[in-house]
Amino acid sequence: MSDKRHYEPDLSTSREEETALASLGQKVPFLDLSASHLELEEELVAMFRRALKTADFIGGSMVDGFEKDFAAFCETNYCVGAGNGTDALRFALIGAGVSPGDIVVTVPNTFIATTEAISQVGATPDFVDVLEATSNMDPEKLGEYLEACCSFDKSGALIHRQKGRRVAAVVPVHLYGQPADMEPILSLAQKYGLLVIEDACQAHGAQYFSTRENGWKKAGSLGKAAAFSFYPGKNLGACGEAGAVVTNDADLAARVAMLRNHGQSRKYHHEMEGYNGRLDAIQAGILRAKLKRLPAWNQQRSELAALYGELLGETPGVRVPFVAPGTRPVWHLYVIGSTRRDALRRHLEDNGVETGLHYPVPLHRQNCYLPMQFGAGSFPVAEKAASHLLSLPMGPSLARRQVERVCSLIRRFMENGRSL
Ligand SMILES: Cc1ncc(COP(=O)(O)O)c(C=O)c1O
Repeated sequence: MSDKRHYEPDLSTSREEETALASLGQKVPFLDLSASHLELEEELVAMFRRALKTADFIGGSMVDGFEKDFAAFCETNYCVGAGNGTDALRFALIGAGVSPGDIVVTVPNTFIATTEAISQVGATPDFVDVLEATSNMDPEKLGEYLEACCSFDKSGALIHRQKGRRVAAVVPVHLYGQPADMEPILSLAQKYGLLVIEDACQAHGAQYFSTRENGWKKAGSLGKAAAFSFYPGKNLGACGEAGAVVTNDADLAARVAMLRNHGQSRKYHHEMEGYNGRLDAIQAGILRAKLKRLPAWNQQRSELAALYGELLGETPGVRVPFVAPGTRPVWHLYVIGSTRRDALRRHLEDNGVETGLHYPVPLHRQNCYLPMQFGAGSFPVAEKAASHLLSLPMGPSLARRQVERVCSLIRRFMENGRSL
């Protein structure tokens, strides 16, 4: 491990050198997925050969083994594999008791899968704004929403007064790999009788300090249940589609296990109508092999994030990510803010550096949600984030030299106030 105190960044790359690097095809990809697979190639091929021999493609020991390992990693009692993160979130919501007609509160600056899963249950998503510093759910805004819009009916159900529907759950998203501020969210949920389902699809291994329990807790172990995605680009990614629900609740886990498998309690005995939403065995085998590397990969991401912070911290017009006290993010994405975001992005692209936008249009302004009638300005912090935030290259195989090059390009561009 490098000693950061003695690390002296080399910012001396000249403009000519940068141009030469770019023209030599030294591109900086947003995420290099092939490197982590090369590292694991033999192990993965051996696993695939075993799978061909046993022909256990659905269920079996690889799925059971991964579920056991991932539950242990998340410090939860149960993990139930699913076909992808969207399925996992839908199964967690249904399994926890969210019903058609309910309202589920989440944030507008997330991937649409969060709200798709809510709608697929037959529930309706509603939004509260986020904190500018972290882009995660603002607990005060959640409190104001519950106070101003909702009241209990005679049966004790929390009802949205204007919409006349039960508000059943809240889905905080641990965006970019940093846990949302869960303690005030959990307190509000307790006060108002809401289920808390974590969208941990970007936060494999992230930690949150619980003052209630006086200890660090893993993302996914804080609410009633949590959904993870193992989409290939995630910190823990399959070689295809995969996801999982984790929970400490045995009944919820049993319901999710049935939901993902056509509602079966055993073969051809259906307790409910379910879905074809299983984690396939080869993906489970791949994930199991990769899970062993995940702590080291997350550590590499952390070190690269620290380097970005060091090199960009003083750059005019650039805001580096804020790490909220009591959180240990896993840097799924390294996202900076800039009022000159689009010009900066073009400049980086012209110099061979790939970047991303997460997310360019907040959900309440997406065409598919326009019928919900949230006008521009409804969630100003999320809207500002959509126009200011820029995701820089990040991943365990990114070289320090590549981070230095990206930062040097950003500093020159921002300090000169024009494209070089
Ligand atoms: C925040 C969030 N929620 C849900 C999902 C859905 O996961 P999947 O693509 O595996 O269905 C993703 C994946 O991109 C995500 O980033």
